[in-house]
Amino acid sequence: MSEIQQIAQDAQTRIAAAQDLAGVEALRVEFLGKQGSVSALLKTLGKMSPEERQEKAPAIQSLRQQVADGLAQKKAALEEAELDARLANETLDLTLPAPSALRGSVHPVSQVMDEVAEIFADLGFAVATGPEIENDWHNFTALNMDESHPARAMHDTFYFPDEDSQGRKMLLRTHTSPVQIRAMQAQGAPIRIIAPGRVYRSDSDATHTPMFHQIEGLVVDEGTHLGHLKWTLETFFKAFFEREDITLRLRPSYFPFTEPSVEFDVGYANEGDRRVVGGHGDADGHDWMELGGSGVVNRRVLESAGLDADKYQGFAFGLGIDRLAMLKYGMNDLRAFFDGDGRWLSHYGFSHLDQPTLSAGVGAQNLGGKS
Ligand code: PHE
Repeated sequence: MSEIQQIAQDAQTRIAAAQDLAGVEALRVEFLGKQGSVSALLKTLGKMSPEERQEKAPAIQSLRQQVADGLAQKKAALEEAELDARLANETLDLTLPAPSALRGSVHPVSQVMDEVAEIFADLGFAVATGPEIENDWHNFTALNMDESHPARAMHDTFYFPDEDSQGRKMLLRTHTSPVQIRAMQAQGAPIRIIAPGRVYRSDSDATHTPMFHQIEGLVVDEGTHLGHLKWTLETFFKAFFEREDITLRLRPSYFPFTEPSVEFDVGYANEGDRRVVGGHGDADGHDWMELGGSGVVNRRVLESAGLDADKYQGFAFGLGIDRLAMLKYGMNDLRAFFDGDGRWLSHYGFSHLDQPTLSAGVGAQNLGGKS
C-alpha cells in the first residue's frame, strides 16, 4: 500500500473515531498543519521532476482534499449533535398559566386627592402640610376661636388627656384650617397653598365618619377678594368634574376665621341610584351637594399668623374630599370608604398606572368598570 493510501486510511478511521471538536482540531493539525503528514507530502512535489510531479500531484492533491472534506463533515456533525443536545435540555413550557391579574388598587380618596392637587398645581398652588395631632391654639385660637367661643363646642373634638410643654390642650385636628396658620407663619405673604389631609370629629352616620379628609386652600396677597375665590372654585369644579355646565351655589354662612363666609354647593341630577353633576339643584330630580366652606380671611387670622392685615387680604376654603369622591365616582355610603373590604376596593379602586394629568383629563376609570 502506498504512503498516500496509508495516510488516507489512517485519516478516515481516526476522523470517524473523533469524539469532540477538540479532537477534530487535533487531527487537522496532525494532517494538514504546517508539520502535518499531508503537508509534508505536498512539499515533496517541489523537489520532483516535472514528469514525476505530473504523475503524483493529482493523488496528493486529492488526498489533501479528502482529509479536509472529512474533517469538515465531522465538525459539522459534532456541532449539530451539540445543538440537538442543548435543544433537548433547554425547554420552555408554553403551556404555563398566564401571570395572575393585578392585585391592589388606589383608594378613591387617594385618587381624588391626587386629582385635586393636580388641578391646583396648574393654578399655581403649592402643597403644604401640618400635623394631625394639633394644639388648640393652631386648631382654634389662632383661627379666631378663643376658649369661650361657641364654635369650639360645634366641632365634636377628640382631646388628648395631656397638655403640651407650653400648657396648650392637645387634640386631633378638627379641620385642615390650622395649616393656614402654620403656612403663613412659615412663609409669610404673598402665599398660595393647598393642604390636603385627615381630620377628626366625633361623629358617625352614612355621610359622616370620625375620620375624614379635607383640602384647605389659602391665597393671601394685596388686593385678593371674594371674586377671586368664586373664580377659583368655579374653575376647579369644571376641571374636576370635567364638564363646563357646573352650577355652583354660594350661600352666606358663618365661620369665625372668614368674613364674609360662604358655603358652596354643586348641583346634581339623580339618575337611578347615581348622582350626576350638572344642572340646577332646584329643578325636578335635581339636588345640591354641599362640598365645603370658604370666605375672605378674617383679619384677626392674618394677625395671629403675624401678617400685616392692613396690607394683605386673602381667601380660604375647605373642601370635603370624601364627598367629592362620592359625587364623582358614585359611592353612596361614606362608611364603606374605611371598612377595608377587598371587594369594595376592587370595585371602586383605581389602577396605580392611571395617574391623573390635566392633559389626559384628571378623571379615571374605576377598576370595577363603573365610572
Ligand atoms: N374649616 C372649615 C370646616 O371644616 C371649612 C373652611 C375652611 C371654611 C376655610 C372657611 C375657610 O368646616
